[in-house]
Amino acid sequence: QTGMFTYDPGFLSTAACQSGITYIDGDKGELLYRGYPIEQLATNCDYLETCHLLLYGELPDAKKKAEFNDLVTHHTMVNEQMQFFLRGFRRDAHPMAVMTGLVGGLSAFYHDSTDINNPEHREIAAIRLIAKMPTLVAMAYKYSIGQPFMYPKNELSYAGNFLHMMFATPCEPFKVSPTLEKALDRIFILHADHEQNASTSTVRLCGSSGTNPFAAIAAGVACLWGPAHGGANEACLNMLQEIQDMGGVDKIGDFIAKVKDKSSGVKLMGFGHRVYKNYDPRAKLMQETCKEVLAELGLENDPLLKIAVALEKIALEDEYFVSRKLYPNVDFYSGIVQRAIGIPVPLFTAVFALARTVGWIAQLNEMIADPEYKIGRPRQLFVGSERRDVKPIAQR
Ligand code: SDX
Repeated sequence: QTGMFTYDPGFLSTAACQSGITYIDGDKGELLYRGYPIEQLATNCDYLETCHLLLYGELPDAKKKAEFNDLVTHHTMVNEQMQFFLRGFRRDAHPMAVMTGLVGGLSAFYHDSTDINNPEHREIAAIRLIAKMPTLVAMAYKYSIGQPFMYPKNELSYAGNFLHMMFATPCEPFKVSPTLEKALDRIFILHADHEQNASTSTVRLCGSSGTNPFAAIAAGVACLWGPAHGGANEACLNMLQEIQDMGGVDKIGDFIAKVKDKSSGVKLMGFGHRVYKNYDPRAKLMQETCKEVLAELGLENDPLLKIAVALEKIALEDEYFVSRKLYPNVDFYSGIVQRAIGIPVPLFTAVFALARTVGWIAQLNEMIADPEYKIGRPRQLFVGSERRDVKPIAQR
């Protein structure tokens, strides 16, 4: 309410755009990538097939799949100079600070040869980004623990290569368990795209100026870091650990009381969504994956899983959450899976950024390919001072 207008704050957070990539029905809890239900993709496809679908609009046949995998595989290395970029960071720097720098730093190697308005340049930039993100995330991790960087291995799968670069050392290989490799691949699929979320809208707005795609994706990485967005998986794991430290399942009621006390500012991390006012379909798939991975690792009794399952049950029956249509989202179980795989908590959002890169670049390329697109210029509702004259300082 101002002297001039009465307006709906929600109006300021909706920026309409037209896209044919991902469809969400928040009331039905439905998510489709290019028309395919996420449940079918997560069960019948792998991440690179999903990348092909998001980028080109169709799932690949066997020949196209082999060609696409080969193209991505042969772009997984990064310029050796990137190592020196990393060395400028403190070892304990947050991985998302490092990733924001590294992804933006890719511009330095490809900016001069990338004209965003050239379709072939857009395609190779997409391939380079999809291929190099696992290498960069693994380099950020290795740097933080003082271990040497591991080069990608072309004979490994996309997820398997990431696990190799994360956990192998020059002294010994990392034995990639098929269950963990499949679980990680499914995490990548579930996070690949999600319509016009905050980071995708950031990438579109940033890219609409004609800047190079690497810089635009770096802007998406920075936005995803926030705890209300991609940072929620790290915050959710920390929340489960906090409840564990408070005394575990028996203390869930105390924690929920804090959440209900708005003055505490405490949120139920991994719950709620700007669009889903029903169950996030990804959360169900993530819970299944979580149980499969923990069973394979003999961690069925993982205390944090017990807390998560109990917390979900209590929240889904509690009027405060039910009346606000708050359900688990993609971040609620993903942290437990990643932690079980051995990925350290601070790296969770970097893994989300790795997986979301294909969605960001597909959405950016879709926008740039539209000859009608113009630089984004959201308008505002001015609610500041009306026109007035400057007084001499002695009269202020
Ligand atoms: C992602 O947009 C995307 O698609 C994002 C994403 C993607 O794939 O890109 O899906 C990924 O970002 C998922 C969301 C991850 N964030 C979290 O889990 C953080 C915790 N969630 C909240 O911060 C919150 O739910 C938001 C930010 C996600 C949505 O906030 P909104 O828009 O305020 O939600 P709402 O309008 O539905 O809230 C209704 C009410 C409000 O209270 P009242 O003013 O009505 O009293 O519910 C409250 C909110 O304050 N509320 C919560 C809550 N989420 C909303 N209260 C406690 N805990 C929560 N998690």
